[in-house]
Amino acid sequence: MTENLPAEPVVERLRAEYRRSPARGIGEATPRLSWITSTPAPGWAQAAYEIEVDGEALGRVEDDESVFVAWPTTPLRSREERRVRVRVWGTDGSAAPWSEPLVVEAGLLDASEWAAAWITAPDDGDERPRRFRRTFTTAGPVVKARLYVTSAGVHEIALNGHAVGDHVLAPGWTAYGHRLRYDTHDVTALVTAGENVVGATVADGWWRGHLSWEMNRNVYGDRIGLLAQLELSYQDGTVEVVATDGTWLVAPGPWDTADLYNGETYDARRADRGWAEPGFDEIGWHAAATFEPAVGALVAPIGPPVRRIDELPVLDVLSSPSGRTILDFGQNLVGWVRFSVQGESGTTVTLRHAEVLERGELGTRPLRNAEATDRYTLRGGAPETWEPSFTFHGFRYVEVAGWPGELDPAAFTAIVIHSDMEPTGTFSCSHELLNQLHRNVVWSMRGNVVDVPTDCPQRDERLGWTGDLQVFAPAASFLYDADGFLADWLEDVRASQGPDGQIPIYVPAEPIPGFRFFIAAGWSDAATIVPWVLQDRYGDAGRLARQYDSMRRWVDHVRRRNGARLLWPEEFQLGDWLDPTAPPENPSKAQTDAVLVASAYVARSAQLVADAAELLGHGDAAAEYGQFAAAVRQAFRDEYVAPSGRISSDSPTAYALAICFGLYERPEQRRHAGARLAHLLRRGHHRIATGFLGTPLVLPALTAVGETATAYRVITEESCPSWLYPVTMGATTIWERWDSLRPDGTINPGEMTSFNHYAFGSVADWMHQVIGGIAPAAPGYRRLRIAPVPGAGLTSASCTLMTPYGRAACRWSLDGMHATVEAEVPPNTTAAVALPGTDGTEHDVAAGTHRWSYEVDATVDTSTEHPT
Ligand code: BGC
Repeated sequence: MTENLPAEPVVERLRAEYRRSPARGIGEATPRLSWITSTPAPGWAQAAYEIEVDGEALGRVEDDESVFVAWPTTPLRSREERRVRVRVWGTDGSAAPWSEPLVVEAGLLDASEWAAAWITAPDDGDERPRRFRRTFTTAGPVVKARLYVTSAGVHEIALNGHAVGDHVLAPGWTAYGHRLRYDTHDVTALVTAGENVVGATVADGWWRGHLSWEMNRNVYGDRIGLLAQLELSYQDGTVEVVATDGTWLVAPGPWDTADLYNGETYDARRADRGWAEPGFDEIGWHAAATFEPAVGALVAPIGPPVRRIDELPVLDVLSSPSGRTILDFGQNLVGWVRFSVQGESGTTVTLRHAEVLERGELGTRPLRNAEATDRYTLRGGAPETWEPSFTFHGFRYVEVAGWPGELDPAAFTAIVIHSDMEPTGTFSCSHELLNQLHRNVVWSMRGNVVDVPTDCPQRDERLGWTGDLQVFAPAASFLYDADGFLADWLEDVRASQGPDGQIPIYVPAEPIPGFRFFIAAGWSDAATIVPWVLQDRYGDAGRLARQYDSMRRWVDHVRRRNGARLLWPEEFQLGDWLDPTAPPENPSKAQTDAVLVASAYVARSAQLVADAAELLGHGDAAAEYGQFAAAVRQAFRDEYVAPSGRISSDSPTAYALAICFGLYERPEQRRHAGARLAHLLRRGHHRIATGFLGTPLVLPALTAVGETATAYRVITEESCPSWLYPVTMGATTIWERWDSLRPDGTINPGEMTSFNHYAFGSVADWMHQVIGGIAPAAPGYRRLRIAPVPGAGLTSASCTLMTPYGRAACRWSLDGMHATVEAEVPPNTTAAVALPGTDGTEHDVAAGTHRWSYEVDATVDTSTEHPT
C-alpha cells in the first residue's frame, strides 16, 4: 500500500547566493549554493549531498549543511552559464532525487568586458529626462541575446517597443562613486529578424535629482546618461555587440521634469508613439555625446530589483471642506497612481499626494520641500492610461485637480513598489489591535525598502539612515527574505566607511557633503550589528566574513577616539532619538543620557567583533576584542551603575540597554534592574518611554528578566504614547513619532513628522519570538527555540517563518486552562520547545510537526494583568 510509505524527500528552492533560477548576471564567480529538503518524514536530517554541474555529478559529500554551501567546481567566467542540480540523502536512509536545475549565469565579471561608452545628450543640463535610441539589423537568427545596462540616473529600456524586464527605478541607488550596479536581461525573445531598435529613457533619479532636506541637486553628477551593451549570439558562434556610443540618437521625451521628491510633469501631446520601434521618423533627434561620469566599479546586483509589487483600488472619494476631491486608498503606501482618463487635448490632471488629512484637507506640511505632485497633460481623443516612471510618493490620499468630467474611482489604481524580496514571515493572534500593529510594521517595511533601507519614503529625506535599519533589521529578517537586499546595502556601508574607520549616519553618504564622515553611536554601529543579524537569522557567515574588517575598523575608530576613558566623550550624540518626552523641536533631548546610551553601544559593538572573530576563526582578535568589550562594560559600570544595579539615568532605555547588552556583572544587579525597569513602566501607566534605541530592547529586556506580563501590558497599552495609540488613531503604517498625529487629530508641529518610519516597528521581533514563539537558537534557525508566552488575555497566536531550511510554524491556543501548541520544525533542524503554562522545561524535538494538548499549571501566570 504505497500511501503508507513516507513521500520521498524533494530538494527545492535552490539558490545561488541570494538568487533563484534563472540567476542571470550574477556577480560572484563562485556563488554559494543553498537548498531546502521538503519531506514530512519526522526527524529528517541530511546525511549527505551531491551536486551536479552541467550533467557532471561531483560525488557524494558526507555533510549535513544545506545553506551557503561552497561552490563545488571551477569558477564561472563572465557570461558563462551552468546548470546545477542537487540531491540529498537522509540519516534515515531516504534519498531525494535530483532537484530541478538551477541556472546560474555570470554577468560581466571584469571591467574589461565592457565595450560600451557612456552617452548623454549634448544639450543636457536641465531636469528633463532624455531618450536614447539605436537601430541595428541582425545578421541572421539570434540564438541568445543579453542586454547589460545601467545609467547615471534611473532608466527604463525597451527593445522594439517592448519593455525589457520589469524593474523600476533601475539601477537603484548605491554609493555610485564606489559602485554602480548594472542589470543583465535575457532579451533573446525580443530580438527580431532584420531591423531592431533599442530605446531607453533616463531621468534624474538619485544621480542628479533632489536629495535630502537641503534639496541638493547634482549630488553625483550634472549630466544623466546611459551605458548599455547588447550582445547578440548567432548560431555559428559569432557574437555581435551593439553598445552605447556616439552613433546613438538622443532627444528629450514628453516630460518637463521627473524628480523623486517632486514628482513628474508629462505632456502626452509630445509622446512620440513608436519612438523605440523600427521605422520611426528621427526628426529632432541628435547624435549622443560620450562622457565619463564619476562612477566606481560596475557591479552585478546582490539583492533583488525594485518592482511593481501590488495594486490597490480607491477605497473612498472625499470632498474636502475647501471643495477639493481627494482619493483615499485606505492604506499608507509607497509608489504612485496609475489612471485612465479621456478628455480634451491639453487638459492637465494634477495629483498631489499626502499620508494624512488635517482638518479634512491634504496634510502636506510633513513632506517639507517634496512637492510629491504628478501632472499629466492629455493628448486628447481616445482614452489614455498613464502612470509616472521616475518618481515615487509616500501616500494614502491623493488630491485630484483638473479631472475632465465625472470622476470614476475605478479609473485610479495605486501601484505599490519596493525591492522584490520574498515575504517569509507571518503573524496573527487573537488581539485585533496587535494584528493591525503588525500589519503596519509590514507596510512600513515595504515603504522603506525602495532599493535602500530608508528612514521614510515621502519627505525630502528618504536616506539610508543606519540607526533606523540597525534597530529594525531583526524584524525585517523575519518578515522578508532580506538577506540579499541588506547584503547589497552593506557593500555600500563598507565602501562609505571613512579613512579612519568612520561609519556614516546614512548610507549612501553623499547627499550632504558635511555629513560624509559624521558618526553617531547607535547609528554607525549598524556596521557591526547588521552583518551579525544576517549571520544570526540567515546563517550568512560569508557575509559576516566579508564585513569583518569593516566591523573591526569601526570599533577601532571608536576605541582610538575614546582613549583611556573607553566610554564616549561628553559630546553630541543622537542618543535615544525621539524619546516621547523630547520636545517636538529637539528630538535628541531624551530622558536617558545620550553619552550613556552611546557608551553601551561601544560594549555591544566590541563584543560583536569578538564574537565574529571567534566564529570566523580569528582566535587572537576574538581574545583582544573580548577583553576590550569587558573593559568597556567595567568602565560603564564604574561610571553609571550603582552597586545595586541602579543606573544614573533611571530610565527604561538605560535598563533595557544594560540588560540586553549584558552590561551587568552580577546576577543580582541584573535582577534589580529588571524589577526597576518593570516598576518604571508601571509607574508610567505602561506608556512607552523609549526612543529609537531603547524601543527595540525594552520588551526583550522585560522578557529576559521574567517580566513578560509587564511587556504585554506595555504592548497592549492604547493611550498616548504607546504602540497601539497610532492604531487606535487609524494608522496603517508605523509613525516616526509616537504622536505624529496628536490625540486632537492635528499633525505634530515638529518639522520632522513622518507617518512611515519603521524604527518603532522593531517591536515586531519581540512579537514573533514571544507572542508567536519562533526564535533562532542557532545561526540561520538551524536550531529553533519555540517558546511562546501568552499574556494580556490573548487566547491564541499563529506564526510562520520560511527559514533557510524550510517552513517553521508555531500555533498555540488557550481555552480556559486547556492549552494546545503545535510546532512545525523544518527538515534538517531541531528545536527546543518550552510550553506555555508549564514549569518551563524544554523539550528537545526533531524535524516534523509536533502537537501538545494539556492543562496549564495554575501556578504559572499565563494571563493578563501584572499585579501593580
Ligand atoms: C531621520 C531619522 C534618523 C534621524 C537621525 C531623521 O531626520 O528621519 O529616522 O535616524 O534623522 O538624526
